[in-house]
Amino acid sequence: MNAIEVKNLTKIFGNFTAVDSINFNVKQGEIFGFLGANGAGKSTTIRMLIGILEPSSGDALVSGFSIKNQSDLVKKNIGYMSQKFSLYNDLTVVENIRFFAGIYGLDGKKYEERKKWVLKVANLENMENTITGSLPGGIKQRLALGTAVIHEPKIVFLDEPTSGVDPISRRNFWDLINELSENGTTVLVTTHYLDEAEYCNDIILINAGKLIAQGTSQELKTNYIKNPILEIEGERVVDSLEILEKEKWVGETSIFGNYIHVILNDNTINEKHIYKLLQEQNGIKIHRVEKITPTLEDVFIHLIERESKKNV
Ligand SMILES: Nc1ncnc2c1ncn2[C@@H]1O[C@H](COP(=O)(O)OP(=O)(O)O)[C@@H](O)[C@H]1O
Ligand SMILES: [Mg+2]
Repeated sequence: MNAIEVKNLTKIFGNFTAVDSINFNVKQGEIFGFLGANGAGKSTTIRMLIGILEPSSGDALVSGFSIKNQSDLVKKNIGYMSQKFSLYNDLTVVENIRFFAGIYGLDGKKYEERKKWVLKVANLENMENTITGSLPGGIKQRLALGTAVIHEPKIVFLDEPTSGVDPISRRNFWDLINELSENGTTVLVTTHYLDEAEYCNDIILINAGKLIAQGTSQELKTNYIKNPILEIEGERVVDSLEILEKEKWVGETSIFGNYIHVILNDNTINEKHIYKLLQEQNGIKIHRVEKITPTLEDVFIHLIERESKKNV
């Protein structure tokens, strides 16, 4: 059985379609990555899947319950961490824990046991009485995740849980997500950090409410870009980019630090053509040109550019 099955799920606000008939399945126990730029429709989808926003059409089964007809059962069986962390900043750490435990009816021994667990995963042992608002972002985030799963739900929805924290906290937070998954929890997580997609078993990409790609990271890299990609390392990156973009055989380009990635339109073009164009004809020192397998970022940029061309 799948943990989540989404069928033609749609949300229309007035005459604006925020989520446009999307379909996907999430397997039990996996980390499922939901990728898309700001405004793509991620939060709207999640709000429907956790039973707090009614779909305009379509349906989904979450833990076997229909979000349309059984939203109360859906709500009881999931955990949810919103983009804004849903913690009360003016309460102490333990008051927040008690509040969320109360929502799910935890008390007595069970409450004590889970409180201890939350304090441990958030690195807040012996800091129960600290005011939540004064905690660093990374710690607050771990506390928010801890409280979101205090009732040990089988499925947890995390909406951009890592936005706005430093890379080390992000990395630590992903260790915690992995830990949940290893213990059997299904995790659906949205992000606009493309590098985080690499930590997910399955990935979907949505753009303007439409699902435009799905698969494992490996499948996305092999199924969606057939053209060769060259990685170029050299001086004067911006000038190089400008020169490259004038060539017919250059499809999409993107900059990764001081590298350029070029998706070629023409299979006969190779490393030598790049040296010739940039170094010999334009005097730009090139250190290295290499054919590479695409990164997920290449794939997503390619797909989103392809979509934007469709819509003009
Ligand atoms: N209640 C609402 N009323 C009208 N438009 C909305 C509402 N909620 C979201 N939207 C719009 O739907 C689109 C998708 O939003 P959202 O799901 O929050 O995107 P994401 O989470 O991917 O950034 C945005 O254009 C947003 O402005
Ligand atoms: Mg959002």
